[in-house]
Amino acid sequence: MKHIPRDKSLDSTLDVLREGFPFILNRSRSYQSDIFQIRLLGMKTICLHGQDGAALFCDNEQFMRTGAIPRRIQTTLMGLHGIQTLDDGKHRRRKELFMSVMTPDSLHKLMEFMAADWRYSIKQWTMQEQVVLFPEVQELLCRAACAWTGVPLAEEEVAPRTRDFRRMVDAFGGVGPRHWRGKRARSRAESWIKGIIRQIRNKELQVPEASVAYRVAWHRDVDGKLLSLQMAAIELINIIRPITAIGWYITFAALALHEYPETKARLQAGDEEYLGWFVHEVRRFYPFAPFLGNIVREDFEWKGYKFPKGRLVLLDVYGTNRDKGQWHQPGQFRPERFRAWDGSAFNFIPQGGGDYLTGHRCAGEWLTIETLKLAVTYLTKGMTYDVPPQNLGFPLDRMPTLPRSGFIIENVRPTG
Ligand code: HEM
Repeated sequence: MKHIPRDKSLDSTLDVLREGFPFILNRSRSYQSDIFQIRLLGMKTICLHGQDGAALFCDNEQFMRTGAIPRRIQTTLMGLHGIQTLDDGKHRRRKELFMSVMTPDSLHKLMEFMAADWRYSIKQWTMQEQVVLFPEVQELLCRAACAWTGVPLAEEEVAPRTRDFRRMVDAFGGVGPRHWRGKRARSRAESWIKGIIRQIRNKELQVPEASVAYRVAWHRDVDGKLLSLQMAAIELINIIRPITAIGWYITFAALALHEYPETKARLQAGDEEYLGWFVHEVRRFYPFAPFLGNIVREDFEWKGYKFPKGRLVLLDVYGTNRDKGQWHQPGQFRPERFRAWDGSAFNFIPQGGGDYLTGHRCAGEWLTIETLKLAVTYLTKGMTYDVPPQNLGFPLDRMPTLPRSGFIIENVRPTG
């Protein structure tokens, strides 16, 4: 049996917080190994980096989610016992619900809502001296997500509800006040959405049968029962919250357009294939999800290394997207690299790898891609704007991260 390299530190929890996104990548480079072992909150943990590690990690026969996601992340980002924590038949049944709303027709409707919201927002921005893009785009996304799912949202509610979704996401790498803000935001959002589910079930709120809210409200689990009010709320939030989270990527897309103006020129020329590559490159290059966790089901061996039952295993999402063996000059922003991409489900994993239905790969990946394409189209062809001097740096030791200024634009004018 081969020996898994062990990190020198007695416990790496503080190093993870201190180093942030590149924590696993840094060590896999210094140990020259795609596998090494650390202790995380006292628990022995195996870290995997790279395509082969990702392929192993996505094998549900060897791994399960039960016990892999810390309670502090469930009580802020995801909700307790939501789809992310389920395994096997229970997971499959729940995942079918999520994937059933990701059809081309359904996504097309969402894009219509979003396009209307882009036009509305651009008009508003023309009346403002300066616009901080990140929070504005999140509000736009929240309006569209609620309209699409069938959740009523009065205009005065847009800002506070969006803030709550933002705080849930912002809590995932935070301790202290950020964690508590995320928890309070989640409990406000859950009571709001529980009320909506109750109204749909009581027929006090009429929503179309094809709508996401209707499907979640009337979804039956493997046992044939409706989800509890709480669980239905958690899963509906698991659709609306991540749509607002695409605001992080849209802000990074705006940053890329600013820092790599040659990409903007090509997008303005209407190159559709390039638009797809650009959106992929934004998701590869800019950091969002750092790592994922799984638990070993039963003892097994891989490449001569022992994986003991119950061991926590982390997959390096950030670093696998920047793996030098897979990506030529990974530190450069070059959308054209996707021309030659092999389409592997394991070397480009910003939203997880493997299979959508049988695995945990992000249910909203296609939605994210379409939303980003639309956003980039509006940023390049639907408006003009200036980018004044500001702090555009994004710290890698903060998870999630964002350009410090939130990306300020001014002199916004609609075009076309
Ligand atoms: C799962 C990232 C947007 C719904 C995941 C996972 C990641 C991820 C890394 C875990 C994959 C795994 O465990 O293997 C992202 C990023 C997004 C995004 C970076 C863009 C900002 C969305 C959207 C939706 C969504 C728009 C829904 C509308 C979900 C759900 C899961 C998930 C339901 C759990 C899937 C499961 O456990 O089977 N996402 N996501 N995400 N995502 Fe996303």
